[in-house]
Amino acid sequence: MMLKTNEIAKMDGKEATVRGWVYRQRILGDNVFIVVRDAWGIVQCVIKKGAVDEKMYNEAANLYIESSVIITGAVKKDERAPGGAEIKASKLETVSRGEFYPIQKDLSEEYLLNVRHLWLRSRKMVAIMQARHHIMNYLREWLNSKDFFEITPPILTKAGAEGGAEMFELEYFGDTASLTQSSQLYGEAMIFGLERVYTFAPSFRAEKSRTKRHLTEFWHLEPEMAWTNQAQNEEIQEQMISYVAQKMAESHKGLLEAAGQNPETMKNVKPPFHRIMYDDAVDKINELGGKMEHGQDPGADEEALLLTVYDKPVFVKNYPTEIKAFYMKEDPDRPGTVLNADLLAPTVGEIIGGSEREWDYDKLIARMKAQNMPLKTYEWYSDLRKYGSVPHSGFGLGIERFVKYILKLDHIRDAIPFPRTINRLEP
Ligand code: 4AD
Ligand code: MG
Repeated sequence: MMLKTNEIAKMDGKEATVRGWVYRQRILGDNVFIVVRDAWGIVQCVIKKGAVDEKMYNEAANLYIESSVIITGAVKKDERAPGGAEIKASKLETVSRGEFYPIQKDLSEEYLLNVRHLWLRSRKMVAIMQARHHIMNYLREWLNSKDFFEITPPILTKAGAEGGAEMFELEYFGDTASLTQSSQLYGEAMIFGLERVYTFAPSFRAEKSRTKRHLTEFWHLEPEMAWTNQAQNEEIQEQMISYVAQKMAESHKGLLEAAGQNPETMKNVKPPFHRIMYDDAVDKINELGGKMEHGQDPGADEEALLLTVYDKPVFVKNYPTEIKAFYMKEDPDRPGTVLNADLLAPTVGEIIGGSEREWDYDKLIARMKAQNMPLKTYEWYSDLRKYGSVPHSGFGLGIERFVKYILKLDHIRDAIPFPRTINRLEP
């Protein structure tokens, strides 16, 4: 019977077949030990001279790391064996011996990025990619259970949401198009029919930032909600984030550990999250040894300083109007600031940007004029405020930053299979 490697230990005393790739191979006396890897784990197989025909034995002795094989034999439980059991092979089929595998020990980060298409088979990358799948799945699961509809936005646009300087532009039949920076504006258009929507799509930023948390192409989850104010917006975020953290700690402990995260840290991620006003955050950052002026946007270093005092994510609220996007609603109780919050997570910094949206037509136009925006390009967007406008809010979560947080990864590029950064477009 064909089994996954993690099912083998249950088959003690019976015959089983596994298929996968050679993870390790060594020859000791008359035995060839092959550790086979599949998506689910590893299992050790022993090919003993005499127990299989000679051709098979010779093949086994000459396999490369990553050759693909199908092995059948009797299962023997063995606590010391990788995978908890061993297969005493009676048959080995080499599906493809292939060539000598170019990834061996002690290779540089740069080299591993060049052979990313192969490095994705490493056990660590497999664990990260499986965890990423579950994280994306739990995010959707939570939103779907709260009356959200998933909608699909355009990727080619004329209207940038987050400022023109960071747009990738391309020639579009004599016109200029951009790769979307955010799907928010399209999400806003759709709340008037569906009330609660989310987009799960790539966003592009032509940012010259060479940091451990910037990509030029990232996956962006952007919920948008009618009849929702900023306080409610924050509650939705903290419930969604902690739902995923709890699920990962409960059901995928092994994946967290394989990536380097302590599941207990994630168990602690429960509502309510901390909340601090931007002005108080600036004071605190300076108390902690930072040098920041009121009115400045905190960078990675400042966020990291602030996060030294928190053990779970913190909302930083009410940023100065001038440093935030045109669509954020000004706080009537605190003029000069907007009804927004960035959610900062320990070890990463900002993972979410969110706000209440300016839903009054005249105020929105005034903000766009103050920022010298091309009113014509955004006419469809301001139009939304003309016909039955309603208070609404939303937020954007960067999936790779969230994966980096949940798994405690050192660098954002490991949170995505094929990272795109300012100096990497291949493989
Ligand atoms: O703060 P940002 O720019 O906000 C928006 O795009 C809003 N339109 C979202 C909304 O309200 N619907 O981006 C949101 C999040 C950030 O908090 C961060 O997690 C992620 O997107 N992000 C990036 N992730 C990786 N690389 C980059 N260059 C990123 N830029 C933003
Ligand atoms: Mg932001």
